[in-house]
Amino acid sequence: MDGQVKFFGGAAFPLEMHKVRIVQKLTLVSVEERVAAIREAGSNTFLLKNDKVFLDMLTDSGVNAMSDRQLAAMMTADDSYAGSMSFERLRTVTQDIFGKPFLLPVHQGRAAENILASALVGKGGVVPMNYHFTTTRAHIERNGGSVVELFLPEALNLDSTDPFKGNMDTAALDALLKREAGNVPFVRMEAGTNLIGGQPWSLENLERTSEICRRHGAPLVLDASLLADNLYFIKTREAAQRGATIREITRRIADLCDIVYFSARKLGCARGGAILTADRALFERMQPLIPLFEGFLTYGGMSVREIEAMAVGLEETMDFDMIRHGPEFISFMADELDARGVPVVKPAGGLGCHLNARAFLPHVPQNRYTAGALAAAVFIAGGVRGMERGTLSEERNEDGSERLADAELLRLALPRRVFTMSQVKYAVDRIHWLFENRNLVGGLEWTEEPKILRFFSGRLKAVGDWQDRLAAKFREDFGDSL
Ligand code: F0G
Repeated sequence: MDGQVKFFGGAAFPLEMHKVRIVQKLTLVSVEERVAAIREAGSNTFLLKNDKVFLDMLTDSGVNAMSDRQLAAMMTADDSYAGSMSFERLRTVTQDIFGKPFLLPVHQGRAAENILASALVGKGGVVPMNYHFTTTRAHIERNGGSVVELFLPEALNLDSTDPFKGNMDTAALDALLKREAGNVPFVRMEAGTNLIGGQPWSLENLERTSEICRRHGAPLVLDASLLADNLYFIKTREAAQRGATIREITRRIADLCDIVYFSARKLGCARGGAILTADRALFERMQPLIPLFEGFLTYGGMSVREIEAMAVGLEETMDFDMIRHGPEFISFMADELDARGVPVVKPAGGLGCHLNARAFLPHVPQNRYTAGALAAAVFIAGGVRGMERGTLSEERNEDGSERLADAELLRLALPRRVFTMSQVKYAVDRIHWLFENRNLVGGLEWTEEPKILRFFSGRLKAVGDWQDRLAAKFREDFGDSL
């Protein structure tokens, strides 16, 4: 029994296993105001202000819904610079779940990456991984190392039905560790692989990866920020694990890794982050950097309230009913869009529903920022804010030419337990309408292009007047509707 509720009428849709007791009012502004807002934001969804956004699907980071138990725990936090009992409670929980006695607190996920890279990566060091994440790569490169991605061909195939596109190419890993013997500070495996659409790896693949790492004496580091989704997919897609509990699968994963780190803005539905290990030598290399970069060893830059919320949130993540909500809603959204002919990444992963912008807007070239244009258009169509994951998010080559991204994706994140079914249906409806009117959508060009991380603060404008024409068509089709 997998706890799936079946419906008499034969329909299939996910059912919320929680009730909503704190709410936040939303506003939906008119399509004319949405065009004005996106123009003012330089057609960059990062620069939109929230009072003009209806459904904020930018990210799940730090915006997952918290539970009544998390909020209650925050009220009993023990504030003190050193020796906080909140930290002790977190240590008890992480030891219990992950079986790793050493806990280093950090203020968020990228801070964990800074500590790891500063402590372990030296000049010329090579860090193999299933796929990079932006902040991870930046910290490794800042310390003079480089990243080698060892994904399988299926990872970048947006239409593949492979259930585990996040798998490591273990044959390539074995060869690399042989070739680069002594030059690999660690191997990194990212759960719920973010940049390829929230795609998981199988426990079997992690077992093989771990065996190879141990044979070559290379520590295996797990980025567990998106572990909740990966756990769900292991349980539901990997036949050998169907009978295992989430807690058992988590422990098995942790036992295969030498270091586990995570952003608690994602895992545990709080804020902050942590690094865990059972290896005293590794712990002692990282520990001195915590007071230097983060704060004292019992808070690491976090408020103790967040530490309490994290402890309860991690415990709640062991509940299948809690972790199924995100992937099931995402799969519902992707299936509904797919049924209407809208190109989405399949199979649906975790984190969010990903639109394939090149298939959505084949007439908008990548140097006119296909996924960026789609992000602006989806906002105009429905006040839905997504995140561009394409060429805009790349840095230019040294000679100034564009580095065209492997894929042009628009990520519509579903923060855990935040949106209702009708809000998801609304988003599907507006994206469907946009798809039917896709020929109206054009590209973007820069008005202000920063040199570093241009996607965060850069400003663009529409090539031509397509944004106004799209709004006019909306008015024509929807009358006086918002
Ligand atoms: N690792 C992964 C897999 C992530 O997705 C993120 C953040 C980090 C590390 C860094 O954690 O933000 O707490 O410093 N991802 C966010 C996102 C930003 O929107 O996908 P952080």
